[in-house]
Amino acid sequence: MRILASFSLAVLALASLTAASQVTVAPEAPPASPKGSQVAQTPPMGWNSWNYFAENVDDKAIRAAADQIVATGMKDAGYVYVNMDGGWQGKRDAQGVLHPNEKFPDMKALAGYVHSKGLKIGIYSSPGPTDCAGSEGSYNHEEQDAKMFASWGFDYLKYDLCSFIPEVMEKQAPNDKAAQMQIMQAAYAKMGKALKATGQPIVISFCQYGWDAPWEWAPALGGNLWRTTGDISPDWDRIYAIVSQQEGLQKYAGPGHWNDPDMLEVGNGKLSLAENRSHFSWWAIFAAPLLAGNDLPNMRPEIKAILTNRDVIAIDQDRLGKQGARIYSDGEVEVWTRSLSGGALAVAIFNVGSDRYSTHPFHLSLAKLGLHGPQTGKDLWTGKFVTLTDNQPLELPSHDVLLVRIDAPK
Ligand code: GLA
Repeated sequence: MRILASFSLAVLALASLTAASQVTVAPEAPPASPKGSQVAQTPPMGWNSWNYFAENVDDKAIRAAADQIVATGMKDAGYVYVNMDGGWQGKRDAQGVLHPNEKFPDMKALAGYVHSKGLKIGIYSSPGPTDCAGSEGSYNHEEQDAKMFASWGFDYLKYDLCSFIPEVMEKQAPNDKAAQMQIMQAAYAKMGKALKATGQPIVISFCQYGWDAPWEWAPALGGNLWRTTGDISPDWDRIYAIVSQQEGLQKYAGPGHWNDPDMLEVGNGKLSLAENRSHFSWWAIFAAPLLAGNDLPNMRPEIKAILTNRDVIAIDQDRLGKQGARIYSDGEVEVWTRSLSGGALAVAIFNVGSDRYSTHPFHLSLAKLGLHGPQTGKDLWTGKFVTLTDNQPLELPSHDVLLVRIDAPK
């Protein structure tokens, strides 16, 4: 509460510092889900089972997630993919056909159910013989599995490196890192090709933890998104470490191919509301996939408000697909911007410091952002219009954010 109260005060102070003229910001609706080879024209949005359920996922949980995405208004806000992570695989039979385990009695029926809600569905596998939890992977069965995923009606595949490292890369090319990386790239290319050959518009997510700069080669191999780091966890330090690793990657992202700083932890662990807001704001600035990973049936209203904030989602889904960047930092305050379609600009100011309760205060430099004179825009977390001025004192509580959309920056 203290954080919220102080944040509101800071915003009030900001509003009273300037005479904000009322500019109408037309909220951009997230574009419809792309079709055909045009998948992921904007960063994929949806939900994935891993961050909350880990392997404890079943048919019922996936159906419940689909129901909740509709019931909570997340679908209307743009969340489309219901993605199961590891935990669905059973055993291969004598013909090499991989069967789901007993928790997933009928994959085709499950996909049909999710589709009947107007949503799409995602599945998970590994280029290795097993996934990270020891369940069956697609090694040597790539085409067979791709055909099966397509025949079941899946729209998205997360392909997770896992056992491919020790079982294939390190065994086939011991002590030769460069050769190992080539083997890895070939494995991703193989599955990309196999999915393409099904003729179905299936998004492929390369999950290999940012090894060997995937942003440089993943798009050419058909990757629609590629992880840029190791796994996220629901704590500020891990989220901020991931944030710090996104710098310089902005030039690699664009429609159909996105940097993936991992799935959202909004609503998980002990993240404060300020931290949840900052996490979501950063992912929007990054043009990152927005894959929620929380317990949807028990989502608190304030978490739902963050995940369904359409103004922030519109930043993430902006049609230009231009990833933002950190422009400057001043002590514990960081200023990031993202260029948007129609000449608009998102400005996000984060207090990343933990040891002091608030900035005290920080003075905004519009000049450093290439802006001249007062800038009026919408504070996307309060919905109020504000005017930012050069050298303006801004006070932000620890780990909180001020995110402003300026439609006509000068
Ligand atoms: C890896 C991935 C995670 C998740 C788990 C499942 O750690 O990076 O996102 O898919 O595997 O075991």
